[in-house]
Amino acid sequence: MRKLKKTNKRIVKKKIDRKGVKRKDSRKNISKKDLKRNVDKKNFSSKRVKNTNKKLQVKKINAEVHKSKPDLKGQKILESYDVKLSDMDFKITITFGPSITKRYVVSLPELGIATKALLEEVKADLVSKVNISSSEILDPKEINHIRKKFKEQANVLLKKRLINLDKNTERLLVSLLIQDMLGLGDIEYLLADEMIEEIVIMSATENTRIYHRKHGWLETNIKPNSEADIQNFSNIIARRVGRQITTLSPLLDAHLLTGDRANAVLFPISSKGHTVTIRKFSRDPYTVTDFIKNGTCSSEVFALIWLCIQYEMSILVSGGTGSGKTTFLNVCMPFIPPNHRIISIEDTRELQLPEFLFWCPLTTRESNPEGKGRVDMLDLLINSLRMRPDRIVLGEMRKKEQAEVLFEAMHTGHSVYSTVHADSSVETVRRLVNPPIEVPPNLLSGVNLNVVMFRDRRSGLRRASQISEFVDAEGELVSVKPNILYRWRPDIDKQVSHSKPLKLFEDLNKFTGMSLVKIKNDLTEKKKILDWMVKKDIRTVKEVGAVMRDYYLNPKSVMKEIK
Ligand SMILES: Nc1ncnc2c1ncn2[C@@H]1O[C@H](COP(=O)(O)OP(=O)(O)OP(=O)(O)O)[C@@H](O)[C@H]1O
Ligand SMILES: [Mg+2]
Repeated sequence: MRKLKKTNKRIVKKKIDRKGVKRKDSRKNISKKDLKRNVDKKNFSSKRVKNTNKKLQVKKINAEVHKSKPDLKGQKILESYDVKLSDMDFKITITFGPSITKRYVVSLPELGIATKALLEEVKADLVSKVNISSSEILDPKEINHIRKKFKEQANVLLKKRLINLDKNTERLLVSLLIQDMLGLGDIEYLLADEMIEEIVIMSATENTRIYHRKHGWLETNIKPNSEADIQNFSNIIARRVGRQITTLSPLLDAHLLTGDRANAVLFPISSKGHTVTIRKFSRDPYTVTDFIKNGTCSSEVFALIWLCIQYEMSILVSGGTGSGKTTFLNVCMPFIPPNHRIISIEDTRELQLPEFLFWCPLTTRESNPEGKGRVDMLDLLINSLRMRPDRIVLGEMRKKEQAEVLFEAMHTGHSVYSTVHADSSVETVRRLVNPPIEVPPNLLSGVNLNVVMFRDRRSGLRRASQISEFVDAEGELVSVKPNILYRWRPDIDKQVSHSKPLKLFEDLNKFTGMSLVKIKNDLTEKKKILDWMVKKDIRTVKEVGAVMRDYYLNPKSVMKEIK
């Protein structure tokens, strides 16, 4: 019996012995050195197995990549230029005829069948090879890091499988891989083009359309492969901002990592198929210099807006859809003195302010599928008042509750900037005092200046069409009416002064003690600075911001410089 037990023990020991690491690991008095030796041994042996496997599998092929020459027969070439994506240039051709719409043709790289198949294989391999932690996926700032990891690994994998791989082809293939795996595939070409304002993925059966700064709506030669691809894009966009888009919640409004605003609607709510609309965020945002140059608004009017912003007056920008309200608001923000605390509240991040401003951007959040975690504009608005703001910027005023808080904030001494959907100053008053916004007319006096944006749909021209103040209207149905200070004359394409301010200068005098003469001198000075900026082409957000900062630190030295 004892003998039998002994042999049994030996058998058990042998079994464990064969498992190598496990045996030593499970022993209590194991030394670290032993463990390391074992792990090394194990790794070595598994590496050897993997290597021999690979030797069997990997068959090198020739990289086959061509620059495509799109068929432009019968079409008139209107313009052609290069767009840079991942350090590579892609040719864009804009053509006209024989179809009704103008076309936007990207010369997409063409891959041979074997190269295409190989890329698919590499993709699958990359997914298993690159370790990405969930925190990296959820942190939008980590995307560059993830991209780098993918790039490095993709380089290794491609080199293993392709012969005669020159540097350019390698870069192209790697960027195609990254574009497909981490980006929005062919849509990335459109995102890279500065001239595109809007991208509309219609459905998988139609070509994607774009709105071009110069040519308006164009049809592109880019079409999603399948409806699943479009849903996948929507998912990528949603996940990055911690939201979800599903058949149960088929609407999504979010911003991409690049700052672009994306809206997705899934089938069957969008009956032709899934659709995604991307409003591109300018990589190089418009500034006051650009707007004076392109005629959106004169330096004289901007000087007035600047003065109002400097002395904490509240401004409302009105206009139709896509008329440029948000952009105009953004252009005016650098006028805020750098030591003022700014809180901005938006549904999706659109505003871009110079770095040195004392700015805290807040964005709303939709609820999760269980209906929890929603943070809306009203929550943020109420919260912002507890953050000791000097200036509150609300992306868009849509609801009664928002308007109530906003007007309350104005009357408690904050200066407020927001946009509202209305085509003129008269319409703005009407919209504000009637449902659904329904602000009591007497509160409207809190708005010191109303700028109305206009967009000519045909030409795409955008102009500040009216600049008004709200004044008392005695004996009329609504006790407030606009007094138009400047209006845009389409025949001469200029803003001309219309009526004298009745209230604005009085308010300024009340707040600052500035006399009318002093106000006029200040306006002349500001106009001079703006004209000088246009002349010197001081136009980026950073450059314009720097002039404003210098001005607030030492206005005299700026005036000296421009003389
Ligand atoms: N003055 C301008 N000149 C040229 N392009 C402009 C001008 N203002 C805005 N744009 C462009 O027009 C597009 C729409 O602008 P923006 O988002 O500011 O409009 P919006 O009125 O706020 O739209 P929405 O009604 O959707 O809020 C943007 O792509 C922007 O770059
Ligand atoms: Mg807007």
